Amino acid sequence: MHARIVFSLGLVLLLGVRVVLAGPVTSAPDPAHGRDLAGRLCSNCHLVGTGQQQQANADIPSFHEIANLQGQTAGGIMAHIILPKHPMPTIPLEKSELADLAAYILSLRDPE
Ligand code: HEC
Repeated sequence: MHARIVFSLGLVLLLGVRVVLAGPVTSAPDPAHGRDLAGRLCSNCHLVGTGQQQQANADIPSFHEIANLQGQTAGGIMAHIILPKHPMPTIPLEKSELADLAAYILSLRDPE
């Protein structure tokens, strides 16, 4: 009897942990949100490819170019946003926003 209760408690704990671990899966990167953020936060400098923007600073790589850099990854893009090279400013963003932006930028990748 006692063992059963302990077992049930263990099961509840285990399931609870599973729910917590499953959390990030439901908030997978959302490229549509990234596109929205890019239009608001990045389009002063980058051509972000939302279709509404005709031109940006010619010296700054467009998101299409950034997406198509050889070996480009979501991690690489996020690293550049977190630790930008001068003159790109540091833009305070949530981790999920970084992931959304990276997913949006990578969606601009040309098919190989
Ligand atoms: C004030 C202008 C400015 C804004 C705003 C800006 N950037 Fe940049 N960004 C730059 C410049 C300039 C560079 C090129 C730096 C270099 O590598 O010489 C750059 C480079 C980058 C790179 C690296 C490209 C590479 O070579 O791999 C990424 C990724 C990037 N920006 C993403 C973003 C995102 C996402 C936003 C919006 C959240 C943003 N930038 C907003 C100016 C800006």
